[in-house]
Amino acid sequence: MKKLIYSIPNELFEIFLVELNGYGVEVLNRDENEVVFALYSEDEEVNTLKISVREIFEDLGNGKLILEEDIQEENWEEKWKEGFEPIKIPPFILIPEWEIYKGNDFIPIKLKIGMAFGTGKHATTQIALSFLPKYIKNNYSVLDAGCGSGILAIASKKLGAKEVDAFDIHKEAIEECKINAWENEVDINCQEKDLSQINKDYNVIIANIQIEVFRKIFDKLVKHFKDYLIISGIFKDKEKNELLEMAEKNNLKLLEEKSKPESEDKPQDLWYGFVFKHS
Ligand SMILES: C[S@@+](CC[C@H](N)C(=O)[O-])C[C@H]1O[C@@H](n2cnc3c(N)ncnc32)[C@H](O)[C@@H]1O
Repeated sequence: MKKLIYSIPNELFEIFLVELNGYGVEVLNRDENEVVFALYSEDEEVNTLKISVREIFEDLGNGKLILEEDIQEENWEEKWKEGFEPIKIPPFILIPEWEIYKGNDFIPIKLKIGMAFGTGKHATTQIALSFLPKYIKNNYSVLDAGCGSGILAIASKKLGAKEVDAFDIHKEAIEECKINAWENEVDINCQEKDLSQINKDYNVIIANIQIEVFRKIFDKLVKHFKDYLIISGIFKDKEKNELLEMAEKNNLKLLEEKSKPESEDKPQDLWYGFVFKHS
C-alpha cells in the first residue's frame, strides 16, 4: 500500500477535489495558503493515480507531490474508516458499507468507500438529496445523470421510484454504482454512458454535475424529463446566472432553489441546486 502526500494552493483545493471525482482524500494540514493532503492506493494502482493527479495539477497550473511512502495495509483501512462517520440528510442517513443502521428515524443508504464521487460529504450531493423526498413519487421513472457512486439513484429507489437508470462516463463509477445498489438491496440500472446518449424519457432527471457539462447537455436533459429536472453542482452566482439563462431559454419554470456554503469558513462561496418543470 502506498501513501502519496501532496500540496496544492488552498484556493485550488476544492476544484482539485471535484476533478479527482470523489477519490478519498485525507487532509493533513490546511491554512489560508496551502493544503497538504494524502492519497492512498494499492501498489499496483499507484502509477495510474499519480498520472491522474499530475494531469489535474497541469490543468490547474499548480500542485506538487511531496512524499511517497509504503504503509501497512491495516493502517490504510483504519484511515478510511476514521474518515467516514454517518451523515444525516433527512430523511436519509449515509453510512459506510460495514455499518448496520438499527434505528427507524432515517432511511439508510450504505456506501462503499472507494473511487467514485458521491460519499455524501459534498454540499452538491447533499442539496440534490434534500430535494428528492418532495419530487420523487411512487412509480416514477428516474435518471441519475452522472451517478458517481449511485447515491442519488439509490435514494430515489428507496423513496419508491419504480425504474431507476444511472449513467456515468467513468467505468469505476459504474462498478461502484452496481456494488452500492447491491449493498442497499435495490435494483438500479447502472450504465457506462455519456449523457449525450440519453434516448428515453423519465419523470425525473437528477443531475449533479459541473457547469462545463451542463453547457453541453442541458438542452438534451430538458428534452427527456417529463415532470421535474433537479440540478445541482452550480458554484457561485456567475454559474447560477448562466444556468438560469439556460433554463429560461428552454422555457423552464423554476420551482425551488437551495444553496449551501462550500465550508463553514467560506460562507460566501455557495453551491446552488434547483428544481425546474416545463412551463
Ligand atoms: C459531481 S459528480 C456527482 C456524483 C453523484 N451523482 C453525487 O451527487 O454525489 C458528477 C458525475 O458526473 C459524471 N459525468 C460528468 N460528465 C458526464 C457525462 N457527459 N456523461 C455521464 N456522466 C458524466 C462524472 O464522472 C461524475 O461521476
